[in-house]
Amino acid sequence: MECSKQRSQHSLIAMNEVCQSYLMADQRLSVLNNVSLEIQAGESCAIVGASGSGKSTLLNIIGLLDQPISGRIIIDGHDIAKLSMNQRADLRNQLIGFVFQSFNLLPRLSALENVALPLRYRGYSAKNAQRNACYQIERVGLSDRLHHRPADLSGGQRQRVAIARALVGEPSLILADEPTGNLDSSTACEIMDVLLDLNRLQGVTLVMVTHDFSLAQMLRRKLVVQSGQILSGE
Ligand SMILES: Nc1ncnc2c1ncn2[C@@H]1O[C@H](COP(=O)(O)OP(=O)(O)O)[C@@H](O)[C@H]1O
Ligand SMILES: [Mg+2]
Repeated sequence: MECSKQRSQHSLIAMNEVCQSYLMADQRLSVLNNVSLEIQAGESCAIVGASGSGKSTLLNIIGLLDQPISGRIIIDGHDIAKLSMNQRADLRNQLIGFVFQSFNLLPRLSALENVALPLRYRGYSAKNAQRNACYQIERVGLSDRLHHRPADLSGGQRQRVAIARALVGEPSLILADEPTGNLDSSTACEIMDVLLDLNRLQGVTLVMVTHDFSLAQMLRRKLVVQSGQILSGE
């Protein structure tokens, strides 16, 4: 599947009347109600709102990790409903890098091995995977910690490794879910700088979920989510 990575203004994410709900003990719990939004390539956009408002649910749908019960989603020109499971996975691999609050690194692997792993899964030789991983680790300013395991890194350094891992497939979209949620405020600022630089200097589209309105201010756009609906956007 071809997937455009050009940085010109085009709609990268378009959602129309998307609904999500979960069945809990015979009760249908509505989590997203008719969410529509559009995000252009190259934008930085915060999805902000209180805990439980539906932000992660929304991000997981944008990231093709979950499918909604209804609504239309176009990602980089592809109507998601028309793709097979494998095509969705291919699109996700080509286009999207994920960064999570809890880093999700493998504890037995070094920083370098953690970052190289997605490429090994894609069939790269160990040498090529490590070369690309080294480059991405350099991009996040951690070249002097290549052989450290996660337990021997600080929280901020772990998140840098996780960002390098998200970058290793050269995604044009980074989806970050509370990426600074486990970090103290000065480390959080450093991680924000890494993410914002990727957006500003390298044109990577950034969509970041946060419950922290002051962090949301650092991104160019804010979509406010409340009770599964987008309250306001700018
Ligand atoms: N897999 C699930 N099954 C049932 N309920 C869920 C599931 N995922 C999320 N929820 C519920 O959906 C609501 C929104 O969750 P979430 O999107 O994680 O919120 P946020 O990220 O804004 O804190 C919450 O009430 C949560 O309990
Ligand atoms: Mg969440």
